[in-house]
Amino acid sequence: MDPLIFTIFGASGDLAKRKLLPALFELHKDNLLPSGFAVLGVSRTAFSDDAFREEVFLKNELLDLSQVDEKVKADFAQKLFYQPIPDYEKSDYSIVKDRLAELDRQFNLPGNYIFYLSTPPNLYSIVPKHLAAQGLNENGQHWRRLVIEKPFGYDLDSAEALNNDLQQCFQESQIYRIDHYLGKETVQNMLVTRFANGIFEPLWNRNYIKHIEITSAEDMGVGSRGGYYDKSGALRDMLQNHLMQVVAHVAMEPPISSGAEAIRSEKLKLFQSLRPIHEHQVGRYAIRGQYLASHIRGLQVKGYRDEEGVPKDSITETYAALKFYIDNWRWAGVPFYIRTGKRLPTKVTEVVITFKTPPHALFQKNDHFTNLNNQIVMRIQPDEGLLLKFGMKVPGAGFKVKTTGMDFHYADLMEGKVPEAYERLLLDVMKGDATLYARGDSVIELWKFVKPIQDVWANDPDVKIYGYPAGTWGPSVADDLIKGEDMTWRNPCKNLTNDDNYCEL
Ligand code: BG6
Repeated sequence: MDPLIFTIFGASGDLAKRKLLPALFELHKDNLLPSGFAVLGVSRTAFSDDAFREEVFLKNELLDLSQVDEKVKADFAQKLFYQPIPDYEKSDYSIVKDRLAELDRQFNLPGNYIFYLSTPPNLYSIVPKHLAAQGLNENGQHWRRLVIEKPFGYDLDSAEALNNDLQQCFQESQIYRIDHYLGKETVQNMLVTRFANGIFEPLWNRNYIKHIEITSAEDMGVGSRGGYYDKSGALRDMLQNHLMQVVAHVAMEPPISSGAEAIRSEKLKLFQSLRPIHEHQVGRYAIRGQYLASHIRGLQVKGYRDEEGVPKDSITETYAALKFYIDNWRWAGVPFYIRTGKRLPTKVTEVVITFKTPPHALFQKNDHFTNLNNQIVMRIQPDEGLLLKFGMKVPGAGFKVKTTGMDFHYADLMEGKVPEAYERLLLDVMKGDATLYARGDSVIELWKFVKPIQDVWANDPDVKIYGYPAGTWGPSVADDLIKGEDMTWRNPCKNLTNDDNYCEL
C-alpha cells in the first residue's frame, strides 16, 4: 500500500475518538497500515501533538489498552500529530499544507493525503474549498482523497448543491462517501451469498419471491443526540442511506465484475428503477411514528418529546416504514417493505425474503390444508447469519407439516474477529477502493425517491404521525402496509432462529 498521511478535520470531536482512532489502531495492531503512515489531526482546539495523543488515544476510555504491548502502543502514538487551526471558515489553510509538507519530509513520504471530514456537515463545502485553494486537491505524482460522513445533504436540493460544491474541488473519483452499513461484513456477504452460489439466484426474482422485508430496529432512544436527531428523523438518519443500501444488495442485478464501478453502476440502475411514491400516495405507502413514554422491563423510559434537545411539540419521526416497488424485469410486482425505528424491542437488522407458496396445497398444517411460504432470513446484526425456513413432515400418521429452520451462524466461520465497519472502510480508502462507498449519483437518486415523503411529512398536517409506546414494534398501523399479504412483519429476536412472541430480546 502507498505511504500516506491520514488527515482528520474535526479531530478533537466525538467521531474521531469513538470510531476513527480505534479503527486505525486496530489496523496498526494487525499490521495493516502502510509502512509510511502518519495521522494529522486538525481542529480548533489548542492541542499539542502530545496532548492530542493523550486525548484521542492513550486516555481514550473507549479503547482498552491494558493488555496491549507497550511498544505497539508507543509506535502508534508516535504516528499521531496535531495542527490547530484558528477557524475553519476564514483560516489560511497554508498552515495545514506546510504541516503536511513537514511531515512528508520528516518521514520521507510522497505527498499522498486522505482528508477525512469529521466535522459538522455545514463545513463539508467549506473545508474542500480551502484545500483546493492550496492545491491540496491535485493528483499528480501523489494522490489526494476526500472522505465525508453522512448526512450528504438534508434533502434533494441541498444534496445536489453539496455534490456540486465537492465536485468543483475534487473529482468524483477522489470523493469517498461513507455509509458505515456498507462496511458491515454481513452486508457485503449478501452479495457473496447471491452471486457466489448457484442455488439462490435462479429463485431471486418475481417468479418465486412473494415479498421482501427489511427491518432495522434499535432499542435505544436518541440519548444525548436529540438536537441533531430532531432535525433529521428516521427517514434521513437511517432509511434514505443505510436501509436503501441494504435494498441495493438484495435487489441489484449481478455486476459484470466485483470492481467498484461495476457494483456501483448496478446500484445506480436499481435506484433509478424505484417506482416513485407520489405525494398523494404517501399516506398509503409510508408510515411514521414517534416513541412515547413507557415502562420497559420495569424501568420508566422517556418519550421522544421529553428527550434532551427535543422540542415538546416535535413531529420528527423516530420510526418510519415504507412499502414500495422496483419497476424492472426482475422485481415487477414484488412489494418491498422496509422499516426502522428507535426504542423498538431489540437491536436487530435483517432481511427476510418470503417465497411464494407451491401452486397446489397437498398437505395439512395446523389442521387445515395450506401451503408454506419458505423464507430466507439474512441477519445483518446481531447473531449474524442466515436462516432458511421450510416445511417438514411431523413424524407419525398422515402428512402434517411443520415449519422448521436450517441456520448458519457467521461466528462459526470466523477464525479471528469480525472487523469493525470502520476498519474495513478506512483500509479501503487507503487502498483507493471505492466499492463500499456511496457514489454521488446514487445518493442523489435516493434523495429523489424520498423527496415526496419528506415534503408531505413536513407540510401536510393531515398525514398523521402515530405514537407508539417505547419498547414496542412501532405503530400498529404499520401492519396495515403488509395486510392483504396474509402475513405480517417478522418481529425478530436477538437470536436469529427465533421470532415473534417468545424470545430473548
Ligand atoms: C447512524 C445513525 O448512522 O447509524 C444512528 O445516525 C444509528 O442514529 C446508527 O443509531 C445505527 O448504526 P448501527 O451500526 O449501530 O446499526
